[in-house]
Amino acid sequence: MGCSILSHIEIVLINHLKVNESDAQSAKLLLEKIGALNIDFLPINKEGYIFWPLNFEVEGEVVSMEGKPSTKVSRDYRANLPDYLRVVAPRAFDIFGDIAIIKLPHELEPHFKAISDSIVNSNTNISKVAIDLGVKGDYRVRKLKMIHGEDNFVATHKENGLTFVLDISKVYFSPRLSMERNRLSKLVSSGENVLDAFAGAAPFSVTLAKQGAFVKSIDANPEAENWAIHNYKLNNISEQNYSFHCSDVENYNFGSERFDRVIMNNPTNSLFYLPLLSDLVKLDGFIHIYHIDSKEEDFDIVNMLGDSFICTKVRKVHPYSPSAHLKVFDIKRTKH
Ligand SMILES: C[S@@+](CC[C@H](N)C(=O)[O-])C[C@H]1O[C@@H](n2cnc3c(N)ncnc32)[C@H](O)[C@@H]1O
Repeated sequence: MGCSILSHIEIVLINHLKVNESDAQSAKLLLEKIGALNIDFLPINKEGYIFWPLNFEVEGEVVSMEGKPSTKVSRDYRANLPDYLRVVAPRAFDIFGDIAIIKLPHELEPHFKAISDSIVNSNTNISKVAIDLGVKGDYRVRKLKMIHGEDNFVATHKENGLTFVLDISKVYFSPRLSMERNRLSKLVSSGENVLDAFAGAAPFSVTLAKQGAFVKSIDANPEAENWAIHNYKLNNISEQNYSFHCSDVENYNFGSERFDRVIMNNPTNSLFYLPLLSDLVKLDGFIHIYHIDSKEEDFDIVNMLGDSFICTKVRKVHPYSPSAHLKVFDIKRTKH
């Protein structure tokens, strides 16, 4: 048919978000809102599930499968690459504001320009490309190397109707947690006292404060404090609804303060803080703890807490490595 792009697309595997048919429309709205829905492909309906085609990885069950093209033109950046590069270039990358953040092996260095040009040319919202060299240190800051565009990592990121501005080379932020933040925004009630114990630039804090919660944000990274306060103001959160404290959470004096909800998003080291922070939860209050768990075995978190707590939900947020998932455990205090 003389359409090499289409014949290429037909064999391309792309990521799809797998959801129950009953959740299909709400998932679609969310994916549209965060720019993750890949409109060049059609949704696939299979065995009671809808598979939404993705522009980039999101939280939830992401399945790699053959895409069903809706048009003859694809925004898969690899479609513009020569064959030998297309097969080795990674298909997925994260988008923070106008920055594409991609893991590229060192061996591809001679092709960084071709790959980054292709990413920018295939997505009008992206103007910079940075290589992801991994998250490091206690502040969990991402080491990045800009390979296309100005060497400046401050960007404006939109998710769930909120706007976050921060320097992603100085404070942690994960665009993959937007659906998780949306989930928590539906669980929180106006007037709740919330502790965001590892708040970073305050994406969870702002999301919950927007629902009328009173949020105490704590983070040890001074850069987090600057950007968190900026983000509270940017999203018009009343000063009555938030406070930020730059401190190690273990050194903060909570006095007699207790919380309806505690967010613990420090997944490489959350468990260490669980005894301290679980003591701060009111009766019938919740802890949402993020933890990297082996794909092989299911970690029994309530074992760590004793019989005053029950686990009401375990959710795989996204794959973390070939052998591990990022999981969230919703834990409720049922006794004093
Ligand atoms: C994985 S990041 C999560 C940030 C934020 N919750 C988010 O979702 O973007 C973990 C954060 O915990 C902070 N942190 C690490 N150890 C800490 C401690 N002992 N006390 C307070 N903050 C800490 C780091 O600076 C980092 O910003």
